[in-house]
Amino acid sequence: MKTFYLTTPIYYPNARPHVGSAYTTIVCDVIARYKRMCGYDVAFLTGTDEHGEKLQRAAEAEGKSPAEFVASKRELFRKLWRVLNISEYRFVHTSQNPDHVRSVQWMLQQAEKNGYIEKKRYEGRYCVSDERYVSDNTDAVNCDICGRSAELISEENYFFKLSAFQDRLLELYEKHPEFVQPHFRHNEVTSFVRSGLRDMSVSRHRIKWGVPWPDDPDQVFYVWYDALTSYMTGIGFKSVDPVRKAEFQKYWHNDPAAGNEIVHMIGKDILRFHAVYWPAFIMAAFPDQPEMLPTTIFAHGWIYYEEDKMSKSKGNVVYPEPIVDALNSFGAPGNDALRYYLLREAPFGQDTSFSYDALIQRYNSDLANGLGNLASRTLAMISRYCGGNIPDFAEFKRRVPGWDQGLRWDNLAQEVSAAYEAFNLSSAAEKIWKVIAHYGDEFLATHQPWTHADNPERRYFVEGILYIALEAVRAAAVLAYPILPKATEKIWAQLGCEDYLGKLKDQSIDQIKWGELRPGVTLGKPEPIFPRLDKDKTLAKLHELAEADYNRDKPKEATKSVESEPPSGTGRGPQELPGGQPVKQDTAKMAVPQAPNADQKISIEDFAKVEMRVGEVLSAEPIPGATKLLKLQVDIGTEVRQVCAGIAEHYPPEQLVGMKVILVTNLQPRKLRGVESNGMILAASVGEQGKPILATFKEDVPKGAKLK
Ligand code: ME8
Ligand code: MG
Repeated sequence: MKTFYLTTPIYYPNARPHVGSAYTTIVCDVIARYKRMCGYDVAFLTGTDEHGEKLQRAAEAEGKSPAEFVASKRELFRKLWRVLNISEYRFVHTSQNPDHVRSVQWMLQQAEKNGYIEKKRYEGRYCVSDERYVSDNTDAVNCDICGRSAELISEENYFFKLSAFQDRLLELYEKHPEFVQPHFRHNEVTSFVRSGLRDMSVSRHRIKWGVPWPDDPDQVFYVWYDALTSYMTGIGFKSVDPVRKAEFQKYWHNDPAAGNEIVHMIGKDILRFHAVYWPAFIMAAFPDQPEMLPTTIFAHGWIYYEEDKMSKSKGNVVYPEPIVDALNSFGAPGNDALRYYLLREAPFGQDTSFSYDALIQRYNSDLANGLGNLASRTLAMISRYCGGNIPDFAEFKRRVPGWDQGLRWDNLAQEVSAAYEAFNLSSAAEKIWKVIAHYGDEFLATHQPWTHADNPERRYFVEGILYIALEAVRAAAVLAYPILPKATEKIWAQLGCEDYLGKLKDQSIDQIKWGELRPGVTLGKPEPIFPRLDKDKTLAKLHELAEADYNRDKPKEATKSVESEPPSGTGRGPQELPGGQPVKQDTAKMAVPQAPNADQKISIEDFAKVEMRVGEVLSAEPIPGATKLLKLQVDIGTEVRQVCAGIAEHYPPEQLVGMKVILVTNLQPRKLRGVESNGMILAASVGEQGKPILATFKEDVPKGAKLK
């Protein structure tokens, strides 16, 4: 039996899930449905990661015990998965779970037995938000993931000898290029490991809320050791129930050649934990058992909102429920629409921006005008011209020599399957919709069956063309089913073919053949599936429901202070940007979509209000007590300006002297750390940490030249 074990990350239930967390679960659901259609026995796991300091603090902020807090939040995830039509899954939670305690302790005891655990004193910096040790140095430092300042800690700890696994990990990556995907992430992980691995602390002394360390009541497990192991717990690893234990035997098996795969789908933020630590933890517990390692770690990109990663910690989140409700209120399948938009929009493994405008646009162009239109036009014509029965094709075949040249979608199923196999969901959708557009627009427009409808001589032609169009509807329904389960089920019912072709979810997606619809069989009742959305009305509704949802949630969210603590550090939160203009950040702010508003666009006159000039840096020096700021003297031709810029961590002062930069010259002067700043230097904000890269010129430009 071919088995496929697929996991989402187990999410922190410190707040309710947003569109970003929903994205991974939707991606996995699509893959799970696809694999089932290919005949795999699929186990699909999601769940919640409930231990650690972050959860403990979030519970305190709500005045609850951690156990009570996580139990209530856990339900929000399950509820959302129902809204999003997530198919059969197992749900693992890490706290108050004896099976999980056994799993984690067993893994550790094996590692210990094999000589990979030792006790020593640990001093360093730890990021509470990301639950990770940031530096083994005690100097003040910011977390390189979230940018917040890391706490100083000192404790007696158990260490995992990660360094012992460097060669084995490199060998794994080399022998199995499919282990880390997409491929560019493979290179990233390889060079990280090649640069050297340090032993890591895997126990915590200061925390009570965790899996207890065996034989040492003062320690609990480091939350990531515990969290990663949940992938095993969730499939019955150390369950006392023999049925569940047998599940582990069946699904936790990595042998792709035999059709047994284990895939962890994650966001790129947690790649290191999965691609470096996790295989090392497994190797330590199961030496020389490659079948125990996951087959693939696939890291997708981030969903951005307002140019920043959508994140609970930052509060710039969009919630799925009001979106689904808003679209449902117009008769559109809200969950399918959101699923389609997210998958279609995010290029393979890359980041993407969420926008309400784009959601409506995609819906109208691809679902209402695309798939919906092809289905409803074809079905309506068959109802009108063929009495609602599947048209005959035999006569067309006989009379039109070479009829099969280019009229069928013969290779489509293989092509689309290849994209699904590679988890390239945007490409799978693109290929399906290309075909939908071809049959919906070009094909029907070229052959115009309606112009021949009254001519008995041309009956065979009308029927043949409509049969071909209907076959395209069937292909689209089968191939798009993993993405749009609800809408395609409706189309399937309208095709009336379940009696002889079986259920939609059981179609062999990678092997469907052209020409399986049976002429003469009566179609189901045609009804519109994707009504067109009016952009303004829909935006207004999205706005209204998101706001109502936010207000309903507010009292609870407002006390969630750990998460909304103003972060300090690079690239995040109130911080010094180049030029010293702090980013305005309202930490309680929610991302509520803006109703249609002409103010969103600015006029050329507005733009012209910003005066920008070329400046030459004459000198640059650090500002005592401000680690991020540099004080610059910039010559803009007519005068020399003093400017503070938050670039000290990325540019040594001497590198700046002589550089031509772009200065916003008509900002009101302000004081930063007591130093006057009179202008702002432009820089790109790059990567996860918002690293500033100064804008400059390729060609020589005179000082003072104006930009426009
Ligand atoms: O990291 N865009 O949990 P978490 C895309 N408990 N994906 C996003 C996203 C965004 N803006 N925001 C979140 C944890 N995600 C740990 C995991 S696993 C053993 C432990 C998704 O609640 C993405 O998959 O912070 C990311 O990796 C995950 O949610 C992080 O969820
Ligand atoms: Mg996170």
